[in-house]
Amino acid sequence: MNRITSFEQYQQEYKHSIETPEAFWAEKAEQFTWQKKWDKVLEWNFDEPTIKWFQGGQLNITENCLDRHLETRGDQTAIIWEPNNPKDEVRKLTYKELHAEVCRFANVLKNNNAQKGDRICIYMPMVPELAIAILACARIGAIHSVVFGGFSYKSVADRIHDAGCNMIITVDSASRGLKEVPFKNIIDDALQICPSVKKVIVYKHTNENVKMVANRDVWWQDEMKKCSSNYPAEIMDAEDMLFILYTSGSTGKPKGVVHTCGGYMVYVDYTFRNVFQYNDKEVFWCTADIGWITGHSYSVYGPLLAGATTLLFEGTPTFPDAGRFWQTIDKHQVNIFYTAPTAIRSLEAAGLDFVKPYKLDSLRVLGSVGEPINEVAWHWYNKYIGKEKCPIVDTWWQTETGGIMISPIAGVTKTKPGFATLPLPGIQPALMDEKGNEIIGNNVEGRLCVKFPWPSIIRTTYGDHNRCKENYFETFKGYYFTGDACKRDEDGYYHITGRVDDVIKVSGHLLGTAEIENAIDMHPDLVESAVVGYQHNIKGYGIYAFVVCGHERKDTDLLIKEIIETVTKNMGAMARPDKIQIVKVLPKTRSGKIMRRILRKIAEGDIHNLGDTSTLLDPSVVEDIKNGAV
Ligand code: WTA
Repeated sequence: MNRITSFEQYQQEYKHSIETPEAFWAEKAEQFTWQKKWDKVLEWNFDEPTIKWFQGGQLNITENCLDRHLETRGDQTAIIWEPNNPKDEVRKLTYKELHAEVCRFANVLKNNNAQKGDRICIYMPMVPELAIAILACARIGAIHSVVFGGFSYKSVADRIHDAGCNMIITVDSASRGLKEVPFKNIIDDALQICPSVKKVIVYKHTNENVKMVANRDVWWQDEMKKCSSNYPAEIMDAEDMLFILYTSGSTGKPKGVVHTCGGYMVYVDYTFRNVFQYNDKEVFWCTADIGWITGHSYSVYGPLLAGATTLLFEGTPTFPDAGRFWQTIDKHQVNIFYTAPTAIRSLEAAGLDFVKPYKLDSLRVLGSVGEPINEVAWHWYNKYIGKEKCPIVDTWWQTETGGIMISPIAGVTKTKPGFATLPLPGIQPALMDEKGNEIIGNNVEGRLCVKFPWPSIIRTTYGDHNRCKENYFETFKGYYFTGDACKRDEDGYYHITGRVDDVIKVSGHLLGTAEIENAIDMHPDLVESAVVGYQHNIKGYGIYAFVVCGHERKDTDLLIKEIIETVTKNMGAMARPDKIQIVKVLPKTRSGKIMRRILRKIAEGDIHNLGDTSTLLDPSVVEDIKNGAV
């Protein structure tokens, strides 16, 4: 398949994609296996919104990820699995083996009454079976909803409930670093409050002793033994749902972002091959967990569509020590390495002694994703990991965009530290001012929007289309609004500066402040809380919680510990506040709105310039909060 190889070609493709988007994307789509060709490339309206790509087309994405490659690369490794403990055995699956496993598991799903259109929740660690489960769902036309293994039983239950899942796929337990995660027990707790679930399929991973509920729970391995490795792919319409993936929003309730079969496939494949300039036989490693969009698009679907070898890593960057990433790169001769700034910053802080023992000479391209990468981290990554020979692609995108939107093309377009640089072909960014007008020209700053659909744009938020409309399409009429602020410099290069809504990026995880507040407020002694982000050297943003206690508690340390436990239980460890300040009252306006602007400043330590506090019901509360800042 062709790809962009020069800057001139990028400019030509970009022009073509803007002037004749339908012809442009039809050419890309032609390269896949379709059971039936589409009747219409695009129909759209951002007011509703309704967006349909390749209408009338029929396909199955797994035929494109697997069957299509069998003849040419059946014996090539599709997945390399690196376990949590580097001493444990590596697993490799060829395309033939992966195809057989996916088909076998598709039969398991069918045998356990899964139907096309059912929602299936997948709650697993990073094992090959997670990729197999996803692909098997897609094979039978069931909609997968993967929930990140760091979420607590309560958050898993909310997501199962929202999507109306009737089946769960999980494991007995798993290790991440030195920590044991009791997956099956967490699911058992979640199911106490999720009556819709009729079946749980458990992959035996650690042999941990777990309780199996009769007529509900079955072992993956036992079921596989009963099934053949033959399963003709279900024929799907291009606009049928492929998956739901929950992301945090401004309210406490997570949004089920919906992606569909045809457009997602075309866009993820196109961006994977172009941004990373993937060459045949190279080893690609995206360190993101498959529980997030990055793992969906660039650990599983993108690489497999392109016939690549993708590395799945079960462990953490610092186990058994902070050299684990670099050791793994040498061990598997990784050519393209894609990770998050938070990981880069923490490994930079660990020091060069963890980098020096490794050659890192297989590396050709480096990538960054999930949050702005600061210049210091960018230079460290470039110098010590890329040895100044590997282009860094700083890729900006979102769960809702499905694939990379603004990014350098490795070795083809220019990089600039801290900049996601230029839009990919097909992407028409726009910066908007507060009044809703588009800002034209360079050297400007505004809210980042996109003014024309691309094939993997969000279609709806599951079960609540209005939420999708309000969230993304109403702030700026006729535009998709990203929620990010952005600068466009004198050369027209984009630099994303961060979120403008009530979500924060903590270690690359997008968390809603309202969702964290809900979890905190579950503590029986608390009346209310307000959470804001503050800049954190390693995590990007840290979580600062202001909490109001219903009655005086003198044992502050114990209370803080209890609050942290409450958050861990109700949301997950990644949402634990870094700082907790107990306050008498929260600063509120006369209409009862919490003045977060003031809390943000206090959390940042910027207490001398709090701005106008005259609209507060009681301006004196600010003094107390300032004095008690932690
Ligand atoms: C942020 C992750 C700066 C941004 C793929 C976006 C970035 C949010 C970058 C989406 C980047 C992602 N530079 N900021 N290269 N990539 N972001 O849905 O704020 O987990 O809106 O998708 O991450 O996070 P999500």
